[in-house]
Amino acid sequence: VVHGRPDRATPWWVAHRDELLAKAAASTPRYVYHLPTVRERARSLLAGGIVDRGFYALKANAHPAILRALEAVGFGFECVSVAEVEHVRRTLPALDPSRILFTPSFAPRREYEAAFEAGVNVTLDNLEMLHRWPDVVRGREAWLRLDLGHGDGHHEKVKTGGAEAKFGLPIARFDAFMAEARALGLRITGLHAHLGSGIDDPAHWREVYGTLAALADSSEGIDTIDIGGGFPVPYTPDVRPFDLDAWREGVRAIKSAYPRCRLAIEPGRYLVAEAGALLLQVTQVVEKDGVRRIGLDAGMNALLRPAMYEAYHGIHNLTRDGDPSLDTFDVVGPICESGDVLGRHRRLPSATGEGDLVLIADAGAYGMAMANTYNLRPLPAEDILDD
Ligand code: LLP
Repeated sequence: VVHGRPDRATPWWVAHRDELLAKAAASTPRYVYHLPTVRERARSLLAGGIVDRGFYALKANAHPAILRALEAVGFGFECVSVAEVEHVRRTLPALDPSRILFTPSFAPRREYEAAFEAGVNVTLDNLEMLHRWPDVVRGREAWLRLDLGHGDGHHEKVKTGGAEAKFGLPIARFDAFMAEARALGLRITGLHAHLGSGIDDPAHWREVYGTLAALADSSEGIDTIDIGGGFPVPYTPDVRPFDLDAWREGVRAIKSAYPRCRLAIEPGRYLVAEAGALLLQVTQVVEKDGVRRIGLDAGMNALLRPAMYEAYHGIHNLTRDGDPSLDTFDVVGPICESGDVLGRHRRLPSATGEGDLVLIADAGAYGMAMANTYNLRPLPAEDILDD
């Protein structure tokens, strides 16, 4: 049973099992990305003509084939470092720089200089940068990232609003920022907010949009409102997929009340999470104090999310797909940390043993992007599947 809900589609990898087994036989750990799923998610977000500008947050997954696929369906790119900007420009040399948005956090002065020089959209987010770097921003155009006073998301560590978070200009300082910007000849043309990741309430974006639109309405020169990313995916089998129709309806209501500005979004996870699977191989199966553990050839080094956020990812034994006899296991990696657990209390084939190939589902976002070489284990390989 892959999903417990009738409104959940069968994941792409079920139909590609043999291909995945062949790829995994070459070597593991290995990420595989299914481009038709990426395109489908991208089109679904842009459908209905409400979103004027989509910027893919490539921090989620910077694979060049994914960038090319998203550009082809109309997405630009949200970058958080100059290295990400350069990666996009190398991958898509003909891309107009206006389709790149640079939204860093506590980046050094030289990165802002480079981004302005490259002609990409730049997002500013504090008053101190105006005081310290007047020569960098004078006479420029930029967007302003606001903190609306609260964060949201699947875990404390991914909330990016409120006093605890380092991001954005508090809304109470908006007027002061705009006055100082004017004095410097810096034109603010976009307002931006991104309050967290994995937000399951469609009303979130309507609220953000309403707040930013009211501010934009009372200020001169703002032509774009960016309501961030944060769109969730259903990692656990029991949750329903994100209600895009409800999202669209909420956003449409604000857009018709404030038609003057273009609407931008910057999703990462939603476009790529479900399109990616991580293939691993069973190393050992061991029982200790009543707990049976399946060991895999990579763990938190290849996929950090479970260790970092207690995130859930589906785990499937591809070799023994369909075996009726199941047992309960913890699934662990080879890293010397007790937190190196990919899943607890999972029902997997009783016969699971050394050499079986295991698939970790929904690993396309923040998987390879956060992989590391801890314990000097190698980074995973990456493969693309396309029609
Ligand atoms: N825009 C900004 C300014 C962001 O900081 C982020 C993500 C996004 C857009 C895209 O958010 P998304 O649509 O992917 O939720 N490593 C964590 C997620 C960290 C998100 C960081 N910022 C995880 O694996 O859950």
